[in-house]
Amino acid sequence: MGGIGKTTLAKKVYDHFPIRYHFDIFVWVTISQEFQYRNVLLEALHCVSKKNPKEYDEMYDNELADLVQKSLKGPRYLVVVDDIWSTDVWDSISQIFPNRNNGSRVLLTTRETDVAIYANTSNPHKMNLLDLDNSWKLLRDKVFGLEHDHPPELEEIGKKIAEKCQGLPLIISVKSLLVIQINA
Ligand SMILES: Nc1ncnc2c1ncn2[C@@H]1O[C@H](COP(=O)(O)OP(=O)(O)O)[C@@H](O)[C@H]1O
Ligand SMILES: [Mg+2]
Repeated sequence: MGGIGKTTLAKKVYDHFPIRYHFDIFVWVTISQEFQYRNVLLEALHCVSKKNPKEYDEMYDNELADLVQKSLKGPRYLVVVDDIWSTDVWDSISQIFPNRNNGSRVLLTTRETDVAIYANTSNPHKMNLLDLDNSWKLLRDKVFGLEHDHPPELEEIGKKIAEKCQGLPLIISVKSLLVIQINA
């Protein structure tokens, strides 16, 4: 589901120090709905190379793909492919990431269970909606900040607002901005 927190969780994993420690090279590509193979290659190159992106303007897609593959061949890589929509898209980009059997990993996020299974994830992690308690905690922290207590008289109405967010962090984030604006 959109807004359930897939990108947020993937970013936490990607940035988590004990995880980073296991890898030598890091690539993050976001797949938009208007998928463009070339953009994925450019995004990947941006992560692995310090070259001026202008240098890629004159190159063909297969040359760019070659560059990405070469830079991922030696080191142990962690690649995040965020928000992949279809198995076709996975088919067109999966060969960019060589399987070296050296502990490298591709972590992908998707709204579609069949894409997760197709991409050979033996045990996809399914995200759950937040329960009411965690919805309220998220709303409270977003509105008042982690370091401040919330005014106790606002707890009842706050919980009612949280309940209306149906456990989706995205709705809670948007609602928290509205509450902050009304307060300002
Ligand atoms: N566990 C969480 N705690 C706090 N905020 C979260 C959490 N999960 C998601 N969010 C917030 O909810 C919004 C949507 O999350 P996102 O990761 O973009 O969802 P998705 O990738 O599934 O569409 C973002 O603003 C993010 O900051
Ligand atoms: Mg996302």
